[in-house]
Amino acid sequence: MDKQAFESILHKDILQRDDLITLLGAKGDNLKQLLDHALAVKLEHLDNNIHLRGLVEYSNTCRKNCKYCGLRVQNTKVVRYTVPDDEVLQCARIALEQGYGSMALQSGERTDREFVDGVERVVKAIKQLSGGKLGITLSCGEQSEETYRRWFEAGAHRYLLRIESSTRELYYTIHPHTPEHSFERRLECIDTLLRLGYQTGTGVMVGLPAQTLGHLADDLLFFRSKDVAMVGLGPFIPHPDTPLWELRDQIPSKEERIELTTKMIAALRIMMPEINMVSATANQLLDPQGRERAVLAGANVIMPNLTPNRYREEYLIYPDKANVGDRPEEAYRNLEARMNAINHSILYNEWGDSVAFTKRKQHTKGE
Ligand code: 5AD
Ligand code: SF4
Repeated sequence: MDKQAFESILHKDILQRDDLITLLGAKGDNLKQLLDHALAVKLEHLDNNIHLRGLVEYSNTCRKNCKYCGLRVQNTKVVRYTVPDDEVLQCARIALEQGYGSMALQSGERTDREFVDGVERVVKAIKQLSGGKLGITLSCGEQSEETYRRWFEAGAHRYLLRIESSTRELYYTIHPHTPEHSFERRLECIDTLLRLGYQTGTGVMVGLPAQTLGHLADDLLFFRSKDVAMVGLGPFIPHPDTPLWELRDQIPSKEERIELTTKMIAALRIMMPEINMVSATANQLLDPQGRERAVLAGANVIMPNLTPNRYREEYLIYPDKANVGDRPEEAYRNLEARMNAINHSILYNEWGDSVAFTKRKQHTKGE
């Protein structure tokens, strides 16, 4: 497309579906325009700050059977674990020492009492250990309103629940069509999290079989319509022990998936300048420069993995995940240098809340 015509789309007040499809299809000069503009928007609203969340892959037990995920209940090759409290607290100490400001606890989905109580207990313990210094993000799937409330009251203040695809039909091509995998229920959970006052994040996978630019544009519109505070986007990576492995020839190439993820991040940064956007680990797996590419397209959050090494091999949402990223002891130095090399700087010892969320809260309080 003509450079000027493309530029005028980038500067529209409100991007419509067709505009988004154009942005997501950008190539060559237009692609550079998109990325440059997204970076400029980010720097204007959020400066060049990067926030860190020390990630703990808390448990790989899961009652679900998502067709893309290595942790699905039918994958019997996985040795299931839950990290004991004392080891999670050891991770919290590392996060504190390294000035990470926040922690993220991620797990498969369980709704039994032992699990729900366990998460509540460990959240409280992290709060106590850190004297409230560490912010806490949870990503533990669909739960009842009561559970979400309990975890919030225990001290978790952010929650990530990806919609995976905001198009119902596409959702059911990647999840079994059963009551446990209900699309409507997923939407309800996101609404509940928003209502309870969590800084709520969602996201999708990019490069799924049969996914079109139209689907992805609808995902972006979905994020805007929900006015979420955070988004996590990452490329789909086929896992050999899952049903979607069969369709691995029907998805875009690695480079195409990472480029498309980058464009999604850029378009979303332009649409929602103040949200927190994470540079997903999956980007790094497909391209050693993936993390930097996401940051330069508009991401402002990185989640260094603090999970004790012996659990990592069993948290294979997608293959080779355990070998991506740095070991806790190296993460600190490497990240700092890598971010400085692309003119970004890490903000230490702050929760790093989403500016979008903080402003909205002040607004609703009438301040
Ligand atoms: N490829 C990429 N991302 C995946 N996820 C799960 N399986 C895969 C995969 N094969 C993502 C989903 C989920 C999160 C835990 O990881 O988006 O929400
Ligand atoms: Fe379980 Fe989440 Fe994997 Fe689905 S994506 S199988 S809910 S861990």
